[in-house]
Amino acid sequence: MPDEFTVTPWEVKGKVDYDKLIVQFGTQKITEELKQRMRNLVGELHVMLRRNVFFSHRDLDLVLNDYEKGKGFFLYTGRAPSLGMHIGHLIPFIFTKWLQDKFNVNLYIEITDDEKFMRNPEYTLDQTRSWAYDNILDIIAVGFNPDKTFIFQDTEYIRNMYPIAVKIAKKLTFSEVRATFGLDVSSNIGLIFYPALQIAPTMFEKKRCLIPAGIDQDPYWRLQRDIAESLGYYKAAQIHSKFLPPLTGPEGKMSSSNPETAIYLVDDPKTVERKIMKYAFSGGQPTIELHRKYGGNPEIDVPFQWLYYFFEEDDNRIKEIEEEYRSGKMLTGELKQILIDKLNNFLEEHRRRREEAKELVHVFKYDGKLAKQMWERIHE
Ligand code: TYM
Repeated sequence: MPDEFTVTPWEVKGKVDYDKLIVQFGTQKITEELKQRMRNLVGELHVMLRRNVFFSHRDLDLVLNDYEKGKGFFLYTGRAPSLGMHIGHLIPFIFTKWLQDKFNVNLYIEITDDEKFMRNPEYTLDQTRSWAYDNILDIIAVGFNPDKTFIFQDTEYIRNMYPIAVKIAKKLTFSEVRATFGLDVSSNIGLIFYPALQIAPTMFEKKRCLIPAGIDQDPYWRLQRDIAESLGYYKAAQIHSKFLPPLTGPEGKMSSSNPETAIYLVDDPKTVERKIMKYAFSGGQPTIELHRKYGGNPEIDVPFQWLYYFFEEDDNRIKEIEEEYRSGKMLTGELKQILIDKLNNFLEEHRRRREEAKELVHVFKYDGKLAKQMWERIHE
């Protein structure tokens, strides 16, 4: 029977069954045991691990072994720039910051202005490059360590990446790339080469690379793992997140091309309130009377899910909200108001940090300790 959902780097459709996806993609579930091991190493667990937002991995156990042995590891993640980031895009970055803080490791962030341009007939390169600047501000606002983080834009950093990318490209055939990404002979040739550029940063250091990202990016890492060892590098490890569901319902992922499905990082308090009140899919009953009698369903309720993913970090409070909503004591409007307040506080702080980020772009891209090292080095 065909699956009722699709997850590719370009499309997430239907209600994703994450357990099935683990089997389909051949990844591993993050077990309680593995979580305990992380807790023992760094003293606590991020809310997104406690709540299984990050739910799947490859070789995370080996990364922890390397860390324990003092060999260390490095982090790598990325972003295809678009006109305005939404709140879902921040998930991997917020979690990556936690990993960087706890393990004190280098982090590489690839901004794929090339990918975005080549994938969309309607975008100009000038557009994707200006969106790169804009998105970098949002990423810096998350609070990464400027000495240990290098943010690079493909169209600028290509010269330094190229020697690695050509080695990777020589190992991949068109038929593998075509099958992995569903390309065909009418695809532009940039997209056929592009996977080499997304794989290249996994080889920026001779240590094991850990990639925190949404699980939609997994196809790239499958190719990487097929070829890495033959080039003298480790197979990249991953830690995969679920998708923050769109406002309009628990299916698919938020889409920038559909503004009412998402809260943008630039949305002002009034817009946030209007979108949540108007569009947020509710698991509540149609009338107050019915709601008091039968209660709401938090599993399908998007405001509850958003609070659960990370906007309400307090485990006792989220449990209380869940119980009150399920029992009918808390109404849909009240639940939505909790989310509106949390979101607006979060966004206010984000915007403040985003302003400060303007002074830091140069540091993360060129002048910081790691950035400088990377510009001086041509990868062999
Ligand atoms: P992009 O720009 O589509 O997405 C950036 C990151 O955000 C994740 N993501 C989400 N996570 C949770 N909920 C959502 N609703 C949601 N929507 C998007 C994505 O999984 C991704 O982690 N090709 C990449 C850019 C890239 C990259 C990388 C990503 C280059 N190198 C290394 C991750 C790791 C892209 O188009 O990402």
